Amino acid sequence: MDETGRDTKRGGDSWAGLRLVVTGGGSGIGAAVVARAAGLGADVLAVGRRADRLAEVTAKAQAEGPGTAVPYAVDVTAPDAAARIADRARDVLGGVDALVNNAGHAVFDRLEDAAEADLRGMVDTNLVAPALLIRALLPALRASRGCVVNVSSVGGVLAMPNRSFYGASKAALNSLTRSLAVELAPEVRVNAVLPGPVDTGLWDLAAGEGADALRERIVSGTPLGRFGLAAEVAAWVCHLVDPGSSSWVTGSLVSVDGGRAA
Ligand SMILES: NC(=O)c1ccc[n+]([C@@H]2O[C@H](COP(=O)([O-])OP(=O)(O)OC[C@H]3O[C@@H](n4cnc5c(N)ncnc54)[C@H](OP(=O)(O)O)[C@@H]3O)[C@@H](O)[C@H]2O)c1
Repeated sequence: MDETGRDTKRGGDSWAGLRLVVTGGGSGIGAAVVARAAGLGADVLAVGRRADRLAEVTAKAQAEGPGTAVPYAVDVTAPDAAARIADRARDVLGGVDALVNNAGHAVFDRLEDAAEADLRGMVDTNLVAPALLIRALLPALRASRGCVVNVSSVGGVLAMPNRSFYGASKAALNSLTRSLAVELAPEVRVNAVLPGPVDTGLWDLAAGEGADALRERIVSGTPLGRFGLAAEVAAWVCHLVDPGSSSWVTGSLVSVDGGRAA
């Protein structure tokens, strides 16, 4: 052990053999995290519902190496999902150094138009599932002196008219991040990345037919004048995972948002 409490057997290359669980790993930001982490040498369990997307992303990461990537198709809101993911992580990875809670549900609607199932679904996917997964993986994370990175949103710190429940679910995730950072210290670090608008399928799913108009409004309200790339967010997720750079960082909410929340 070194003074950060981590196993020093890894030597100078802090990513080789690092074991990550990444939810929502089959598309967008999660897929970019899987690619980057495996590219740095980590072993990744990529979780999501669509087996075909996970298979594609993990096969590519596996082929490019030097790390490994294994798919696991499961709905993170299923009653036994957290326990099943913890079991699979133990079997496939032999332990966990980092959990990236990235799976997210976004339905953009005025409160008076929103379906109750969507409101409940956003809280289930964006808050309850991450919390249950952290809890299920805690023994493994404590054993490795590991970390959690929650993929939240600027929507959790800005007013979000017409997207209030999405924003509220991410604000709750931000609160969970800060509280657990203190509760789980010093064994487990807990941080969050707060992306601004990133060019992923979430926008098509989130805004339906109004997606183009919403995109234009978003770009004009973003100081850097464009949508971000999934890889630009993945870089910061991995930076917070990296024991070489972030071993003294916990409870941080890091905006990666083109200046949107400035
Ligand atoms: N794009 C943005 O502008 C933006 C901005 C701020 C924050 N974020 C956050 O970034 C995260 C990733 O979103 P993205 O932009 O990369 O969009 P995305 O490509 O739609 O990714 C969302 C991922 O979550 C997975 N997912 C959703 N519900 C799930 C469930 N119940 N169980 C398991 N997996 C589930 C989806 O996979 P399956 O459908 O296969 O399950 C998908 O891979 C989300 O938490 C989102 O809120 C995105």
